[in-house]
Amino acid sequence: MRTVAWDDNAVRLIDQRALPGRLVVLSLRSVPEVATAIRDMAVRGAPAIGATAAYGLALAAANAGADTGAALLDEVRAAADLLRAARPTAVNLAWAVDRVLAVAERKAVAGSPGALRACILAEAERIADEDVATNRRMGAHGAALIRDGATVIHHCNTGALATVDYGTALGVIRAAHEAGKRVHVLVDETRPRLQGARLTAWELDRLGIAHTLIADCAAGYFLHRGDVDAVLVGADRIAANGDTANKIGTYPLAVVAQANDVPFYVVAPTSTIDLARPTGDDIPIEMRPGDEVTSLAEAAIAPAGTDAANPAFDVTPHRYVSAIVTEAGVLRPPFAASLAAAVAGARAPSPEPGL
Ligand code: MRU
Repeated sequence: MRTVAWDDNAVRLIDQRALPGRLVVLSLRSVPEVATAIRDMAVRGAPAIGATAAYGLALAAANAGADTGAALLDEVRAAADLLRAARPTAVNLAWAVDRVLAVAERKAVAGSPGALRACILAEAERIADEDVATNRRMGAHGAALIRDGATVIHHCNTGALATVDYGTALGVIRAAHEAGKRVHVLVDETRPRLQGARLTAWELDRLGIAHTLIADCAAGYFLHRGDVDAVLVGADRIAANGDTANKIGTYPLAVVAQANDVPFYVVAPTSTIDLARPTGDDIPIEMRPGDEVTSLAEAAIAPAGTDAANPAFDVTPHRYVSAIVTEAGVLRPPFAASLAAAVAGARAPSPEPGL
């Protein structure tokens, strides 16, 4: 099933906070509810929050009582500001919001409210559909990098839950598995919110892919022993030079991988590439509440009042990245050139349905 979808004038999504214990599906019926779901990480993962925000704009349009296209557009713009601000690091969020808004702005000039609502929902559906197709293409490209019998380390969660379906880095692992290769995944637990333990292990179990959960700090042990063929991660934003923001803990993993001559692969759609940010230093990093660090499953694990810092992402400098797998193919250094070419190819104008 799709983890994010439009259903009967609501945004339907899996509440990832309840997994692996319970499979809870939320039906969100207002823009503030959607923004809160993104901020509180009921839905998370760069492509998933992008698609959710796009549907959030469809919700804004559906709920707006405006009687002209221009008035409806004003309400959609206000919703776009709210949704864009929900989480700062994953560029897919702003990318999806801006993409829907651009279509709405073109249509609003002459369109009726009804036509505008339809074209906003159609664009959101296109973003969701494209995400699934893109992930499958990345899977096909990336699976060629995985040998039969490989052991790989995976950080955070990049599967169907983090996207609309199929996944990015986990999609590559899944594609290799579906091609008949034996793959064993060392699953980083991914402190502090345990996306690896709670979500990736759950997805791999459902897919029947062999896996072993490890503490984040155990990765170096396995890399040093020579047990690991590759490290695979997703991305929240890739700067023009290939520096990559991803879940906190990715950078140390990349450094230890390189120190042990193990390839480090980033898997992300071209919508995650932000050519407007020259380097990783230009990427905004979300700071989350300290209680995510001082507690585990709502139980305190530090003395009351302990000060905790909680950056949600870190930036891996491009020199540690062996390749970036996109729907346009496997990109190699120098990334400034290969990323620019991939984005130019992916964003070449195509006829816009319905306009
Ligand atoms: O804070 P999260 O759980 O949203 O962080 C998610 C990640 O860092 C993922 O690796 C990234 O979004 C890619 S998901 C396909």
